[in-house]
Amino acid sequence: MSRPFPPPPFRIGDLVVDPPLLQAPMAGFTNAAFRQMVREYGGVGLIATEMVNARGFAWMDEHVAEHPERLWGVADEARPLAVQIWDNDPATMSKVGRRLVEEYQVSVVDINFGCPVRQVTEKAHSGSYLLRTPGRMFEIISRLVKACAPTPVTAKIRLGCSPETINCNEVARVVEEAGAAALTVHGRTAKDMFRGHADWDRISEIKSHLKQIPLIGNGDLDSAQKVVDAFKRYDVDGVMIARACLGRPWLFAQAAAALRGEPVPADPSLAQQRDCMLHHYELVKQRFGEEKGTVLMRKYACCYAQGKYGARHFRSHVANVSSADEFYRVVEEHFPMKSKEEMKAEMA
Ligand SMILES: Cc1cc2nc3c(=O)[nH]c(=O)nc-3n(C[C@H](O)[C@H](O)[C@H](O)COP(=O)(O)O)c2cc1C
Repeated sequence: MSRPFPPPPFRIGDLVVDPPLLQAPMAGFTNAAFRQMVREYGGVGLIATEMVNARGFAWMDEHVAEHPERLWGVADEARPLAVQIWDNDPATMSKVGRRLVEEYQVSVVDINFGCPVRQVTEKAHSGSYLLRTPGRMFEIISRLVKACAPTPVTAKIRLGCSPETINCNEVARVVEEAGAAALTVHGRTAKDMFRGHADWDRISEIKSHLKQIPLIGNGDLDSAQKVVDAFKRYDVDGVMIARACLGRPWLFAQAAAALRGEPVPADPSLAQQRDCMLHHYELVKQRFGEEKGTVLMRKYACCYAQGKYGARHFRSHVANVSSADEFYRVVEEHFPMKSKEEMKAEMA
């Protein structure tokens, strides 16, 4: 079927997602500092936190004063903001959902039904493990929808647990019947982890199994052109980007321009990218202090260098930094300042 292009904004409950581009939840990465970076560049319709364990939240609530570290920034930052939770107990999840709505006034509560990591699946029977029991998913979603109303509840799934047990069409119907306001699908199975390619034909097919809630496609989008192609080729209302935005928080602004039919802004210069990384470091340091912040920044710094000439060399140095002085020195001396194309041209 042919879809309108540019793709119109879509709704998650009363929330208008404009542009229809979403920043994915990524554990260990999409904390408040990263989200601020994404917001500063713009072009994103909805931003998500890392996944937060509902049981852990409930336990902390009962035993200590602090809430999970992963909720850092959530109470105060700009909206719209989706907070993702994971667990398998409907009562705990609805309790935590209610808290997120009442106390934190989040825009969306998203449920993780896609995480393939053993700690979450085999040990906690949560994340993608729940795809094998759609009845349980129904119970979780419907309880949460009631507890969070009128704040919308959404679900994020994979195609199934394994290539042999793909059940995303059935699961999509269950998600909608249970009252979720949107469905996001990463086009791989849990068993695939990140191998192979996301199957966008399968994602697209799900649309015909949904009556009215929006479908958000996810997997392998790493350029403005791929975002445009996804909307042109596949039956989705929105798209979500994860890994590709980690060292490129400006990717959404580029994709949004492409969707408006405008020229895609060039990547920032390497000097600007380095400054962007240093700004990100300041945010991380402000929150976590110099020691913890510097260690945490190592992985982000690697993302900023990725794909550039000399990235491996930079990585090997930045992987060991543990103070601000060391970080600044390594950046000064080793952050890649020439693109692969420039190096090739020089060597030609
Ligand atoms: C480091 C990392 C952490 C992730 N954490 C989460 C998470 O907390 N919740 C979730 O639903 N998906 C998580 N994902 C999956 C992504 O949201 C996304 O579905 C997947 O990476 C595919 O999209 P991409 O090809 O754009 O990266 C994570 C992925 C990565 C690489």
